[in-house]
Amino acid sequence: MMRDDPAMIEALSALRLQLEWGADEALGEQPLDRLASASPPAAPAGGPVLPVPERAADPGPAPARGSAPSRAASLAPAAATTEALRAALAGFEECALRATATNLVFADGNPRAGLMLIGEAPGAEEDREGRPFVGRSGQLLDRMLASIGLDRTGFLITNLIPWRPPGNRNPTDAEVALCLPFLFRHIVLTRPRHLVLLGALATKAITGSARGIRQMRGRWVDVAIPGLDEPVPALPMYHPAYLLRTPGAKRDAWADLIALRRRLDAG
Ligand code: URA
Repeated sequence: MMRDDPAMIEALSALRLQLEWGADEALGEQPLDRLASASPPAAPAGGPVLPVPERAADPGPAPARGSAPSRAASLAPAAATTEALRAALAGFEECALRATATNLVFADGNPRAGLMLIGEAPGAEEDREGRPFVGRSGQLLDRMLASIGLDRTGFLITNLIPWRPPGNRNPTDAEVALCLPFLFRHIVLTRPRHLVLLGALATKAITGSARGIRQMRGRWVDVAIPGLDEPVPALPMYHPAYLLRTPGAKRDAWADLIALRRRLDAG
């Protein structure tokens, strides 16, 4: 294998990630194919949970006319292209987060890749650069994805919320609900074949499920997206910021990466 061989680059990335995650010693003479041996997360008590179609986040009662949610609900579906959607968001003054943010953080990566990753909201560095996942957790995510042969030409990445909440607080349910029509429209316009939901907030907002991220991670679920006829398979994973705080969760994250690679390889 040559050093610039894609298989070699992928193998080196996987090795680098293992080292970074603390696997710095070879315990056997023969290499083990972890891709072949990794198993999905254990099913919860009561039997395996099958990936059944789940409803996307409940829109609740119809928003009052002229209210911020009703503006979002009419503006977003009217955008015919992602550029128009970005412009609609840039002009959407009803979300208060816009006033305290430096930049709109819309998306990064390849809209034609067929894979869309959805995080929560920009942090300080994303706010400064106007690009999602460029800070510490984004760099970890990039290294994780490189270990399964993916870089930003192989996916599109965005957030539930396109503006940084002040002080990096979690976005409120109302802020998520307000921005969700724009995200749904973004999904409709790019039509990804697969979604990856990064963390509890994105998982709850997109699947509408009340189950926690620990139960949902690593299992594909079909999610209904308003505006699309077919449900989209989505894989909830831990958020990379959680992995930075919780080294013990990296084993599960590795299994989830393998689940993602397998599904992408299966087409
Ligand atoms: N965390 C997120 O969820 N999104 C970003 O863009 C950066 C950090």
